[in-house]
This record gives sequence, C-alpha cells and structure tokens, in this order.
Amino acid sequence: MKGIILAGGSGTRLHPLTQVTSKQLLPIYDQPMIYYPLNTLLKAGIKDILIIVAPERSGDFLNLLGSGKQFGARITYEVQDKPEGLAQAFIIGADFIGDDSVAMILGDNIFTDDLSDSIRSFKSGAKVFAKKVHDPERFGVIEIANGKVISVEEKPKSPKSDLAQIGFYIYDNRVVDFAKNLTPSARGEYEIVDLNNKYLENGELVAEELKGEWIDAGTFESLHRASVIAREHKLGIRDMKSDISVTIKKPEFQKKTEKII
Ligand code: G1P
Repeated sequence: MKGIILAGGSGTRLHPLTQVTSKQLLPIYDQPMIYYPLNTLLKAGIKDILIIVAPERSGDFLNLLGSGKQFGARITYEVQDKPEGLAQAFIIGADFIGDDSVAMILGDNIFTDDLSDSIRSFKSGAKVFAKKVHDPERFGVIEIANGKVISVEEKPKSPKSDLAQIGFYIYDNRVVDFAKNLTPSARGEYEIVDLNNKYLENGELVAEELKGEWIDAGTFESLHRASVIAREHKLGIRDMKSDISVTIKKPEFQKKTEKII
C-alpha cells in the first residue's frame, strides 16, 4: 500500500501564520503538524509516501522531511498548482500509486487513535473513518445503519447523522480511474464523497468509528486544541498513539533540553 499526505492549499484561515509557511508545518505543541499524519502511515508499515504541496511551500517541506530517510521512509513530492478538491490527490498521484492500493490522509488532520490494524487489514474496496461531531453540516456526513454505510453526503444542509467523515481514506487501485472520471462539483472541486459514492454503489464502502479525538487543525481554535492534547500526552495524562516520538527517536540535543513544567 502507498501513502499520500495532502498538504496543499493556502491556509487563509490561519493568516498571518500561513503567510510564511504552510499550515501543515505549523507547530502542534513541540512538533510540526505533518509529523502526525506521517506517523499514522509509518506506524502501519507504509514507507512509500507522496506529499502533495502548494508550489510556493515545496521548499519548506523538503527542508523538514527531505528524502524521508530519517523516518525510514521514501518520500516524494508533487506540486498541486491549484487546490481543486481532495479527490485531485489521486489524479496528481496516479503515477506514484501505480498498481497499488492507497491510504490518503489530510496533512491537517490530527487524531489520537492508532489506526495501524485497521490499515493493515484493508483488502479491497474503500474504507473511511467517522467521528461524532456537533456540527456535521460542516463535513462529509456518513449515515450508518446496522453497521453498513447507507449514504455519504458532502456538507448537507440537513445531515442524516452526526457522523463526520474524517480526513483519512483507504482505497483499492480503482480509485485512480474513478478520480480521473469525476466531474467537479458545484463548488468547483473533485469531491472525495463522489469517490466514496462510487464504492458505495457497489456495496464496497465500509466506515469505522474513531474512539479517540479528531481535530481538523485548520483554525486557530482547533490548532490550539491540538497543541493542548499533544502537551497532555507529553505530561502522561493522555495516550496520543499518533505521536511520532513513539515511533521515531528524537535527536539527542532535543531530549536533553526538553523539560515540561
Ligand atoms: C473535506 C471533505 C469532507 C471531510 C473533511 C474532513 O472537507 O470534503 O468530506 O469531512 O475534509 O476534514 P473540506 O476540508 O474540504 O471542507
């Protein structure tokens, strides 16, 4: 299985912070945001990772992550000239995906669950992950009955459930063809829900509910909340299984100077 981290966009809601770098490189307490999605993939044994970036920020990602060798991964980069929807990742990443299945994760999604077993057990079709929210109309909404997905709708005015589809998706190789044949939605985007509906039509879409926390860290409030959670994890009052320092050893100098008051 290949991995894609979608880290494009201009992050206008986080101006002026994102006037100098990408949203996905901003700090979540003591680590750059992208370490979390990266760790989700690495922990599940996914070593071939494509990072899709905005053209003006590509240098920043390279400076931080380089070839991926320090993480035991092979990282490659593609530029997304214009953000035209999540499903565009599979068009941009078509050559990289080749004949494989693919796990795609949004670079600003932080969650505390360890999804490794769920990723490893994927065989075919599509798998999405859901989390109960109080404002489902802001997200893709998943309706589930008797453990089966009934519908998936993008930002519906009258949501059929309170389960939001989070920014992590696993697909078999057909996703590349499905994505290439999509037409942009009314908001001009290649929608991830349209892909999910292709699989749903064939009865091949499964959804799993997250137990822990999920944060779409695209606003000042959610960015702060993610840092609070990461700090609590460092203090030992929360188990944040997606923390990369569980998997990757920190440089010596950082260990020595680190102190939590
Ligand atoms: C996108 C997806 C939506 C999903 C959300 C998760 O929304 O279109 O289905 O629930 O990511 O973060 P967007 O961030 O483009 O508004």
